[in-house]
Amino acid sequence: MNYSIAIDGPAGAGKSTVAKEIAKRLGFIYIDTGAMYRAFGLYYLNNGLSLDDEELVNSKVSLVKIEMKNIDGENKIYLNNEDISLDIRTEEASRGASKVSVYTHVREKMVELQQEMALKNSVVMDGRDIGTVVLPNANLKVYLTASVEERAKRRYLEQTKKGMKVNLEDIKKDIEERDYRDMNRSVSPLKQASDAILIDTTNMEIEEVINKILNLCKDRGIEL
Ligand code: DC
Repeated sequence: MNYSIAIDGPAGAGKSTVAKEIAKRLGFIYIDTGAMYRAFGLYYLNNGLSLDDEELVNSKVSLVKIEMKNIDGENKIYLNNEDISLDIRTEEASRGASKVSVYTHVREKMVELQQEMALKNSVVMDGRDIGTVVLPNANLKVYLTASVEERAKRRYLEQTKKGMKVNLEDIKKDIEERDYRDMNRSVSPLKQASDAILIDTTNMEIEEVINKILNLCKDRGIEL
């Protein structure tokens, strides 16, 4: 029997760190759906195609092939057979993902791919619409959030640690804009599923969040 755990929430709430670790401890596959939208957007950015033109975006959807592979225990993402796992982590790719993810045609293709993966494996999937659209029957749904200030602070620390020169106010503004776009688009906006468990991580350590979710899994009999 395959199990599925859906983790949704806004940018910077800690979804990917938590989802990755939960998957590791349960022996499930981790699926980062944000990475899929980033890869999708990258196709257009790399080819100099405007992401503001929905008709143009739609006309190229069939040319985009996205695959997720686990290589030596690491999750890799491929765009038309090329490993772009690192390229999708730039601010430009992040903005591109947010733009491309508002289009119905793109979302339909991504959702289909994500549902196929969850049919074949026990998964922990994180994103914005997993509990509401992709896996409405998930065994556990979690909505992870944190204050905008805390999320900006986390991103700031993460990026300065990597040696990047960033400004806290700019990051905060970027997060607010992304929240607005993600929560107000007409197709699959970010929202908490009615049966999702809300966890506000503002004053929580990562380990605390992981343990809380693992306990919820235990209560529901979710195990490998
Ligand atoms: O989680 P992330 O920052 O990597 O996501 C990148 C963008 O993709 C984000 O702006 C929202 C969008 N996204 C989405 O619309 N649906 C998902 N399931 C995952 C991400």
